[in-house]
Amino acid sequence: MCGIVGYVGDEEALPILLQKLNLLTYRGYDSAGIAVSHNGNFYVEKAQGKVGQLEQLIDYSIASGVVGLGHTRWATHGEPSRLNAHPHLDCSGRIALVHNGIVENFLSLRTQLEAEGHTFRSETDTEVLVHLVEKYYDGNVTKAVQLALQQVEGALAIVVLHKDEEDRLVAAKMDTPPLIIGLGRGENHVASDIPALLHYTNKVYVMEDGEVATITKNDVLITNFREAVQPRIYERRVMVIDWPPEVAQKGGYPHYMLKEIHEQPDTIEDTLRGRLLEDGHTDIPDLHVLPEEIRAVQRMTFVACGTAYHACLVAKHLFETVLRIPVQVDVGSEFRYRQPIIGPDEWVVAISQSGETADTIASMREGREQHAKVLAITNVVGSSVARLADGVIFTRAGPEIAVASTKAFVGQLIGVYLLLLHMAQFRPHAHADELQAMAGELPRLAGLVQRLLEDQAGVQDIAGRIAQQPACFFIGRNLDEPIALEGSLKLKEISYIQSQGYAAGELKHGTLALLEEGIPVICLATQPNVYDKMLSNVQEVMARRAWTIGLVPEGDTGSQHLMDDVLTVPRTHPWLSPVLAAVQVQLLAYHCANALERDIDQPRNLAKSVTVE
Ligand code: G6P
Repeated sequence: MCGIVGYVGDEEALPILLQKLNLLTYRGYDSAGIAVSHNGNFYVEKAQGKVGQLEQLIDYSIASGVVGLGHTRWATHGEPSRLNAHPHLDCSGRIALVHNGIVENFLSLRTQLEAEGHTFRSETDTEVLVHLVEKYYDGNVTKAVQLALQQVEGALAIVVLHKDEEDRLVAAKMDTPPLIIGLGRGENHVASDIPALLHYTNKVYVMEDGEVATITKNDVLITNFREAVQPRIYERRVMVIDWPPEVAQKGGYPHYMLKEIHEQPDTIEDTLRGRLLEDGHTDIPDLHVLPEEIRAVQRMTFVACGTAYHACLVAKHLFETVLRIPVQVDVGSEFRYRQPIIGPDEWVVAISQSGETADTIASMREGREQHAKVLAITNVVGSSVARLADGVIFTRAGPEIAVASTKAFVGQLIGVYLLLLHMAQFRPHAHADELQAMAGELPRLAGLVQRLLEDQAGVQDIAGRIAQQPACFFIGRNLDEPIALEGSLKLKEISYIQSQGYAAGELKHGTLALLEEGIPVICLATQPNVYDKMLSNVQEVMARRAWTIGLVPEGDTGSQHLMDDVLTVPRTHPWLSPVLAAVQVQLLAYHCANALERDIDQPRNLAKSVTVE
């Protein structure tokens, strides 16, 4: 998704803007641009392609200024091109604007503005915003932005620079896209995401829906475009972030994805720390649920998008098995539009790494409107998801930069285990011994992941051979099914190999027709209760002479005789196996994409944080 950066202070803005843009590239983008201003010298440059291509186009002899903004664009309206890249300028060329999000009523606004004499140069929805600011400008850019946004429907974050008021940037947020102000000494920053700010400051202000910020080097004035047009000072809710700046660097790994895969033991330990007590009980202060609410809950709906959706599927298996609470799982983009039935004493639980995914947020709002208790498992403190929820389990994965989610997913699984253990304390259930065994095993899990990471020769070899195949399948039953889906998603998103994940028993109802000699089928078989049934499904695959690759616990003998190749994971409690299996399929996808020399951290067409519908 688009990334926004801005700077106002005493330093040259350009290198700061470019560095921050480079730190945002993980969000996914297809073009980039900057604008800087100083003493009436207003310099704008943009490029299709990477930030490096923008850097080559910039004329450094004139690109000077102590205030500026920048943008990485992920195309929605209009193809990726230099013309459609941001910043967009008004007719007079005095106002530069960058935007993340969508202007839903842009066609009617564009028609109206064109009738009023404004000339448009791009195909973007964004351009209406800068012409609206121009229309309302009468010497006060903040006021012009407020009036412009009153005409707009949609979800957006913008930053505006006016040549005639070059001591300030105006930032505004409507609905979901995140916008963070970084508070420095004698300088202030703005960016779409916290990691882009950490080199400069750890003090941040997360903008709220409706807010307009006038940012000068020594001050930030927060107003709201939906309320009084006269500026009103809001109390600052400044947060201090304790992530070190290095978290946004590769730390010697060739890709962020590999670094993040290797950080998973820390994610597990950090997410459990202080929450899982020695006696197996839990202490989760941010969750804010009362024992009587836990006893009363009748049904739970887990909603999420992408990888986080697969964490929801793991939750469904566990919560229904252990607590006998009916659980439904939905992707955010469907849940919000299918008029879901949510009765009294029902909970909606959103899972989201970024906490800014538009469809997930909309689903939470749907739950809230229907009077459900709304909980969240998320990685970002201060994110929209965190603020919307009645209670939160924060995963402590640190910033995840690679588009393909890895450590955040494992953090989400740990969040699911914690929620399960927490609720089990207050509801009668018949799995006390099993749950106690799982809780006892959780503190060992990080070590087991570490062990798995230490020997990647086998997975690398198999991945190299899969890289030569046109398609791949992942199958599993029970708790292995969500990881089959996740493995398939990981592989397709970073290697571009056609891949499908399936419930193993369902393969014969259609998809088996696609199996041919040599086509790889990753067969996950970590769940003892369906192990024999899984091996029967493997036989069905073998009969089509496909290439079977088992993913099984260490010491498993059945698979050694049956399957062509075997990947193992350390033995653990079966309910925790999804964590280890997830790490193994992440490595498989990573090494496969690496063999194919793909752009692993920024796969084509994809965005890290999807802040539009
Ligand atoms: C995007 C990312 C996925 C992620 C999904 C949900 O599609 O590329 O990796 O799983 O969004 O994101 P969230 O931040 O809500 O977990």
